[in-house]
Amino acid sequence: DWTTGNVIDEQVARIKAQIGDAKVICALSGGVDSAVAAALVQRAVGDQLTCVFVDHGLLRQGEAEQVEQEYVATTGVKLKVVDASTRFLTALAGVSDPETKRKIIGREFIRVFEDAAREVVEEAHESDGGDVKFLVQGTLYPDVVESGGGTGTANIKSHHNVGGLPDDLQFELVEPLRTLFKDEVRAVGSQLGLPDEIVQRQPFPGPGLAIRIVGEVTKDRLETLRQADAIVRAELSAAGLDREIWQCPVVLLADVRSVGVQGDGRTYGHPIVLRPVSSEDAMTADWTRVPYELLAKISTRITNEVAEVNRVVLDVTSKPPGTIEWE
Ligand code: XMP
Repeated sequence: DWTTGNVIDEQVARIKAQIGDAKVICALSGGVDSAVAAALVQRAVGDQLTCVFVDHGLLRQGEAEQVEQEYVATTGVKLKVVDASTRFLTALAGVSDPETKRKIIGREFIRVFEDAAREVVEEAHESDGGDVKFLVQGTLYPDVVESGGGTGTANIKSHHNVGGLPDDLQFELVEPLRTLFKDEVRAVGSQLGLPDEIVQRQPFPGPGLAIRIVGEVTKDRLETLRQADAIVRAELSAAGLDREIWQCPVVLLADVRSVGVQGDGRTYGHPIVLRPVSSEDAMTADWTRVPYELLAKISTRITNEVAEVNRVVLDVTSKPPGTIEWE
């Protein structure tokens, strides 16, 4: 019968049987799936696992620290952090087109991960001659069904922004979440003691804040958006709306300016868009009727606390015709 404890025991046994005494690598994204998959593998084979966290600098406030500090502290995972934020910003310089942003981020991600994976392979060789044979992926049951059910060799779904690895760097996949739905993955994560901020995290796109800045991505704009987003998340959580809201993209219209008045003077700043949506599966969605008082509080806080932002607007479009994200 299905209990979280049984699922963990069963998966740990399977992982041990599959991996034996080989080495294994996993890319952490900051999301639930990779975090839970890696924690299961860690429990099964301990330090045979090395995790790689590519920090592309496009995560929200506190998220990189959650992976680098809290996640490591609670799981004991061996983590290699690559700070690639400058590289991503350079690659994104001058780019406004959404699909081009996605392509650049996917391309840079796989290059950085590839370099890190090669280092892990070399380090394993030098230490005790062991081979890195496996790659962990957080594939869920719905992904398996969607892609026709086959077991793959390493070719991470393009949807998840990791593209393919070169031929000389191929691994056999370890997919401990293949039989699970999202809520089951969260239950397993909680049982394994992972931080709530990771386990209960709402969906967040792989390309991160880059596709929530309409216009070119710059360091300053990322900082502005991060501040606004942190306020929105804090207020929605404090109001107890985390379950009702599927996700709430916060978007900076960096290419738009409007006139405002703050203190003694006129301002010419950027709007922030709030996009709270309710959904079952992200295929369709409706805009969430967030209470007016809460919207007012969020608006006041953002315009008071975030420089450059002088207007807050609410997106009241369902999906379809709107998508959840603006880009
Ligand atoms: P849309 O905007 O198409 O989004 O209604 C549907 C769901 O997918 C997420 N999303 C992405 N996730 N890489 C991802 O990993 C992406 O490029 C991407 N684009 C959208 C979005 O946040 C929503 O949950």
